[in-house]
Amino acid sequence: MDKVRFGIIGCGVIAPWHARGVTSTPEAELVAVCDVIEERAQKLSAEFGEPAVYTDHLKMLAEADIDAVCVCVPSGLHGPVTIDAAKHGKHVMCEKPIEITLPKIDAMIDACKQANTKLGVIFQRRTAPMWTKIRNAINDGKLGKMVLGDAYLKYYRSQDYYDSGDWRGTWELDGGGALMNQGVHCIDLQRWIMGPIDTVYAQADHLVRDIEVEDTCCAVLKFKSGAFGVLQGTTSVVGMNHRLEFHGDQGTICVDGEKITKWKVPGQDEEPPDDAVDMGSAASDPKAISTEGHAIQIRDLCLAIMEDRDPMIGGDEARKAVEVILAIYESARTGQPVKMG
Ligand SMILES: NC(=O)c1ccc[n+]([C@@H]2O[C@H](COP(=O)([O-])OP(=O)(O)OC[C@H]3O[C@@H](n4cnc5c(N)ncnc54)[C@H](O)[C@@H]3O)[C@@H](O)[C@H]2O)c1
Repeated sequence: MDKVRFGIIGCGVIAPWHARGVTSTPEAELVAVCDVIEERAQKLSAEFGEPAVYTDHLKMLAEADIDAVCVCVPSGLHGPVTIDAAKHGKHVMCEKPIEITLPKIDAMIDACKQANTKLGVIFQRRTAPMWTKIRNAINDGKLGKMVLGDAYLKYYRSQDYYDSGDWRGTWELDGGGALMNQGVHCIDLQRWIMGPIDTVYAQADHLVRDIEVEDTCCAVLKFKSGAFGVLQGTTSVVGMNHRLEFHGDQGTICVDGEKITKWKVPGQDEEPPDDAVDMGSAASDPKAISTEGHAIQIRDLCLAIMEDRDPMIGGDEARKAVEVILAIYESARTGQPVKMG
């Protein structure tokens, strides 16, 4: 195979990032697009070289000459659509969060294993080298014994944003709010860098927006390493961005948006390394993200298919952030700390 032939399922806000990723990858080709709202599929097709248009993903999976699909439907539909794709022998690049419940995630991982198809999941921020550099410094013990790993994810989404799709802000299809939709990227990074979490204790509610799910959450975390952490997520404040702060007893690394603002690592230059890649923060505009991360992950999936290896972020890895978020929701609901597996 010299090219992986793609179809895109779901032609809403995020679909153009996948279309750009596929059409800019030498090992990929965009063959078909599908949306239950035909005009959306037609529009995406017109912008990206006229791939075939479908309004039924099962028909596309059965008829189109494709090897893989990008799953860009609402989060609570990722599972059934991925399982349909696997049953048709298609590889999957699924948007984040992988799904919104653990049984649904496990079913989609299992379906891809059974079908021997690859399952990649988008967490585009992980592709920025800065995060690997921070993770390596911490894993190598450069900060000493880890004390705190904090994430402050302060974003803005208007009521109009939530009203722009009937799935947004619902338990059934968004699966949560400030954490499950917007915060999941940096929650993935916080956990990836700090390691597994032992216990969470949280408050979460919709303080401002007219939605079912939380627009604001504060959680206290205890990592299995013994370190503590704070996780704040909101979509109801203005003028902010995300900040991640990692402290050991010997050193500190802080990130504001996409830039390292403090690099106090013993024996190393105390000037923050200037290797920020602007992935776009989407702090107040969901469309303000770069296409680079999606393109890197789509090319990686193509190579994983050709080389028969795992994609850089697979189902098991993407499951971890959702597991943390669901434990936080359980704690907020019950008022009790929740111990994680
Ligand atoms: N990686 C990122 O930074 C990022 C950014 C935005 C959204 N997302 C994720 O992408 C997914 C989609 O979000 P969005 O903002 O594009 O939503 P959206 O509502 O704009 O688009 C979803 C589209 O899916 C279509 N659809 C629904 N069911 C379908 C089906 N069975 N078959 C075909 N089409 C169907 C809808 O008609 C809609 O056009 C979500 O899971 C979201 O979390 C990721």
